[in-house]
Amino acid sequence: MKKFVFAITGASGPIIGIRVLKELIRTAEVYLVVSRQSFQIMLDESNIDWVGGTAKDIQNKIRKFYRSKRIYYYDEADMYAPIASGSFQHDGMCVVPCSMKSLSAIAHGYAHTLFERAADVTLKEGRRLVISPRETPFSAIHLENMLKLAQLGVKIVPPVIGFYHDPGDMEHIINFISGKILDAMGVEHNLYKRWTSRRPST
Ligand SMILES: Cc1cc2nc3c(=O)[nH]c(=O)nc-3n(C[C@H](O)[C@H](O)[C@H](O)COP(=O)(O)O)c2cc1C
Repeated sequence: MKKFVFAITGASGPIIGIRVLKELIRTAEVYLVVSRQSFQIMLDESNIDWVGGTAKDIQNKIRKFYRSKRIYYYDEADMYAPIASGSFQHDGMCVVPCSMKSLSAIAHGYAHTLFERAADVTLKEGRRLVISPRETPFSAIHLENMLKLAQLGVKIVPPVIGFYHDPGDMEHIINFISGKILDAMGVEHNLYKRWTSRRPST
């Protein structure tokens, strides 16, 4: 079974990370870290309460939420977690959503939290890394950090919607962005209708 490392950090839109995770655990095990700030934003924006207790307690809550045991949760300060080491083999890492602070840390090799360390390791081992940075507008600092990572082969997939799929409601938008992230991870899904040419008749 495939193994993915997953981080949800403190930008707006943790609901997208939560959706992508749901899809990943259909076929893979996920090693998850949620930043302290993100727990709060999840509660504020989506009324999802994963906060409180030990890492094991949080893992139990998350497993109950998804009705799946394929999630292994680690505290952001736990540098003894397996994903902190390059010897832990995995099939790719996702940071969804990625705050500008975490983007900067990853772009500069500043491995302060477990997910920053896991991303640093993913890069040094040449594994797949997908980041969904969320901010608007982007400053030159943000763009430079994204460029630096893109030049290292990181897939930058911001939560930007397409209008060609007739987005409709919020669920469609979340599914579309989540599907784009899964495409970048090389994971099959059925979350959005792929574009087919409808050439205007002349
Ligand atoms: C409600 C809320 C929404 C936020 N949204 C964003 C955002 O969309 N993008 C961003 O870069 N930072 C955002 N922030 C700020 C980050 O949470 C903050 O920089 C934090 O230090 C990020 O830490 P983390 O990446 O370790 O979670 C938001 C903060 C709050 C309280």
